Amino acid sequence: MKHKLCRIESCTEAAANTFLMRFASPEIAASAKPGQFVNVLAAGGGEAPLLRRPFSISRIDGDIIELLFNVVGKGTGLLSRKQPGDTIDVIGPLGRNFGTDSDYDTAIIAAGGIGVAPFPFLTEDLRRRKKEIITFAGFRDSKQIYTEHLVNIHLATDDGSKGFHGTVVQILKSFLDKTNPARAKIFACGPTAMLRALAELADKKNINCEVSLEEHMACGIGICQGCPVERKDDSSKYALVCKDGPIFLTTEIKF
Ligand SMILES: Cc1cc2nc3c(=O)[nH]c(=O)nc-3n(C[C@H](O)[C@H](O)[C@H](O)COP(=O)(O)OP(=O)(O)OC[C@H]3O[C@@H](n4cnc5c(N)ncnc54)[C@H](O)[C@@H]3O)c2cc1C
Ligand code: FES
Repeated sequence: MKHKLCRIESCTEAAANTFLMRFASPEIAASAKPGQFVNVLAAGGGEAPLLRRPFSISRIDGDIIELLFNVVGKGTGLLSRKQPGDTIDVIGPLGRNFGTDSDYDTAIIAAGGIGVAPFPFLTEDLRRRKKEIITFAGFRDSKQIYTEHLVNIHLATDDGSKGFHGTVVQILKSFLDKTNPARAKIFACGPTAMLRALAELADKKNINCEVSLEEHMACGIGICQGCPVERKDDSSKYALVCKDGPIFLTTEIKF
């Protein structure tokens, strides 16, 4: 884990209310793994939020880290207005990465909305490992679609403006009802309701499924106990999303 002041290369609106920020950090870029996140101090421009904001590492491009984020409040609003040459204070890489080493041949990616963020990085890792990749990406409408660096994409929109009319879990279910991919594993990120539905589907289809959880965070490093998630087994009742996750097998946790 490194604590760095990083120079912003660019911050642009890549889809409706979806910003792509690129900043340089050779040290974080060298050690990051898909599924990990960084904790960013969104200070600047007068009154600053006190807490850091967590973001999945979306992609590594040489020494450059890419983040993809929606503006939802003060911190993301401040970040979206950063200019090339500005600096941001970043801690990372943090958390547990996706389990790409394990025993599977087909990687099924399921992304809901801004949950697409960690998948460019994961896709590059899976391609290096020569895995078969099938991507399911769902958005509210066609204006929100961001699918750069993803492959073999099945699109869904809630309003039917592009691709399948429905949710990402519905399109994945209809695919799995017709097809039985060889030794599959699901990698997912999105809103909690989507992950809950996906966990049920994965359980019915008997497919291993890892999800990236989004929980409100403060410290991001396991100190404040502010990001608990209930475990399914009794060994220790709660896990911490920042330290034990954000990646969990759906069989490990209760939604
Ligand atoms: C491990 C992790 C990775 C994340 N990766 C990304 C990413 O790649 N891209 C991205 O856009 N967002 C990501 N998030 C969510 C992101 O951290 C929040 O959107 C951000 O902190 C909001 O900050 P803000 O100051 O703009 O909003 P605030 O003013 O703090 O909040 C605005 C609204 O968003 C809600 N909110 C804030 N944080 C969260 C959260 N973690 N989960 C659910 N609702 C929240 C608040 O309750 C409030 O309603 C991630 C969160 C976690 C925990
Ligand atoms: S955010 Fe502090 S323990 Fe997880």
